[in-house]
This record gives sequence, C-alpha cells and structure tokens, in this order.
Amino acid sequence: MLILGIETSCDETAVAVVENGRRVLSNVIFSQIPLHQKTGGVVPEVAAREHTSSIIPVIKRALTEAGVAPKELSAIAATAGPGLIGCLLTGLTTAKTLALIWRKPFIPVDHIKGHLMSPWLLNPSGTSEKFASMTPRFPIVSLTASGGHNELVLLRAPRRRNGMPRLTILGQTLDDAAGEAYDKAARIMGLGYPGGPAISQAAVGGNPHRYPLPRAWLEKGKNPRKWQNFSFSFSGLKSALLRLVESLPRNRPSSDVDGVRLQADLAASFQEAVNDVLATKLLLAAERYSAREIHLAGGVSANTDLREKIRRAVETRQHPLFGRLTFHKNITFRTPQTLSFCTDNAAMIASAGYFRYQQNPRRYSRWRNFEAYSDR
Ligand code: KG4
Ligand code: ZN
Repeated sequence: MLILGIETSCDETAVAVVENGRRVLSNVIFSQIPLHQKTGGVVPEVAAREHTSSIIPVIKRALTEAGVAPKELSAIAATAGPGLIGCLLTGLTTAKTLALIWRKPFIPVDHIKGHLMSPWLLNPSGTSEKFASMTPRFPIVSLTASGGHNELVLLRAPRRRNGMPRLTILGQTLDDAAGEAYDKAARIMGLGYPGGPAISQAAVGGNPHRYPLPRAWLEKGKNPRKWQNFSFSFSGLKSALLRLVESLPRNRPSSDVDGVRLQADLAASFQEAVNDVLATKLLLAAERYSAREIHLAGGVSANTDLREKIRRAVETRQHPLFGRLTFHKNITFRTPQTLSFCTDNAAMIASAGYFRYQQNPRRYSRWRNFEAYSDR
C-alpha cells in the first residue's frame, strides 16, 4: 500500500509517501523555522498563512521524489489534531479534497500516534538489511517528548495483523511538555528558537552538575524502587531556572571566558534536569512492564545526551538512582532513524494512517458517505 501523508499541525508543511507503513519513499519538509525565529516562537496566524502557500508545491515534490503518480496511491492520510487549528485546516482540507478528486480513501490521523510510529520508519538510503527485516516486538514502552506533548505509553500487539498497536497511556505532562520547557529555558537564557537544539549546543563541554536544578519526580516515597508515577511536570524547573538566571551577574560580554563557561554550565545543568526525569521514567516503565523494546520519539528525541543516557542504562542495566535494572533479557532501544523523523514530519502520519487503515479498511473506503462518516 502506498500512502500519501500530510502534516501541517504547527510550523512545518510536510508531505511524504510511505510504502506498507514503514518504508519511506519521500519525506519533504518545508520548515518555517527561519520565519518564526524573528518572533522567537510560532505565531499561529503567520504559520497558517505559510501553509496555504506551500502545501501544493510540497505535495508535488513528495510525489516526484517518490516517483509515484497520484493514481498509484492507495490512500491519503492527514493530521486531524491536536495542533493549531488554522494550520491543521490547510492540510486536512487539502487531503480531503484530493481524496475526493482522486477517489481515494481518506484517513484522519492523531499527531501523537504519528510520533509513536516514527521509530518504526525505515529510511531506504540508510537502512541495513538487518534493521529492515526487524519488526518491532511487543510490549513496547514509548515516550513521545515534543514541543506540544509529553506522553509515556505502553503499546501491546494489535488485535488485527498490521493494525494499530493497543495503547495504554502511562503518564503525561501536568503542565509544560519537555520541548516547551527547552524553548522557554532558551528564551530565559537569551538563546535562539527553537530552544532544544540551541540549549544542547550551548551545553557542549558544560558541567551538568554545577547548578542543582529541581527534578519533579512527583513521588512522596523516599524509596525510588517503589515509584510508579509516570506523569511529568516541568514548570517548576522553568521557574527555578528563571530565579537562578536573575541571581547571576548580568551583562557579561560574550568574550568573557567566565561568561561563556557560565552559559555552558547553565545549559548543561538544565538539560541534565530535563533528561534525567525523561530517561528515568521511561526506563522505570520499561522495567515495570517487561518491555521488549523502548522507543523514544518527538522533537526532543533528537537530543544526543538523552539518547545516550537511555542507551547506556539499557546496555549496562544500571541506573544512578535504582542501581540494577531488571529488563526483559532481549530488550532493544529504538529512536527514529534520522533526525527528520524526530521532529514533525509527514512520513510518521502516513505510517500511522496505514496502521489505522489496516484496522478497519472498509470504514475508510466509505468516507465519502457523509452520514456514515466521522473523523473520530
Ligand atoms: O515534535 P516536534 O517537532 O513538534 C511538536 O509536535 O511539538 O518538537 C519540537 C520540539 C521543540 O520544542 C524543540 O525545542 C525540541 O522539539 N527539540 C529538541 C531538540 N531538537 C528539537 N529538544 C532538545 N534537544 C534537541 N536536540
Ligand atoms: Zn509533533
């Protein structure tokens, strides 16, 4: 099955063609980041207008790069939410219109389910035979950490072959998502937008233990072995960082060696505080549910330090707080194969669309029947 995926929930106009849910034939991303750098964040109205002008050229390019003609497509999938409504409308309405004209099934996709699928995607140019032949093994514990969402879920084998895995939410953020925390921290520190890459770059060579910033474990018990709260909270950390920055000497010139050192130590300490909580809760959940795979997805999964923390703990089966971790004996850790699969993209939407379609093919083939159809 060849699925055309369309993603316009925030500041990326993205279109992709994916074969059988995993093999990415094209993955075109038109990023608005340079536009939003001027305002230090996404202005919804500006983002929505950009999508309207870029959507058609991006669709054309995705089809050309995949070498696929519209008549060869099996279905069209688009992000239906969550996201900025003005932005979603462009992708969704374009997808439905094309599905009508080209007489294809239309599949609405939840953006977070898309992120969940991103570690399954195969990048044809960089995929080894071994990886390509490996189908994910359940149960999977998966963390999606992005600018808008922070969700830790348990995935169990689907009821139908190639259907959507059964999903149980183990924890979500109670306030800011991890990516949002990175973006706000970067603003406090006077670094650029988006904050995640800016902070991880500034943190290189910094001392992550110079400033002991708080971790919201959201647990009362002193014994970490008994912890079972998989929710997240990052707003206290953001306030602590703001107070810390305000207490530090101001207006140091960037040529000042101590000033540069201080910035690196601050960035490294902040990164450590966020990643410590993300990695710990993910590892703890993997142990608790005897996961055979640990998946990390969303924009923050691009963070090298976070990946390393998890990889090291999986390899050594040791954690600084808990000591020995008793994982499933053949546990595997997967992150998206390329950085373009971590941040918003349409390959993940086409993939989630495929698994949703397989769950109930008749439903999506009948979508033009107005009375019988609902996006939910
Ligand atoms: O998944 P995504 O592209 O969009 C949403 O669905 O929100 O995630 C974007 C977020 C931004 O907050 C950005 O700062 C963060 O992902 N991010 C990173 C890194 N690259 C992107 N955070 C930490 N380290 C990175 N290297
Ligand atoms: Zn996203």
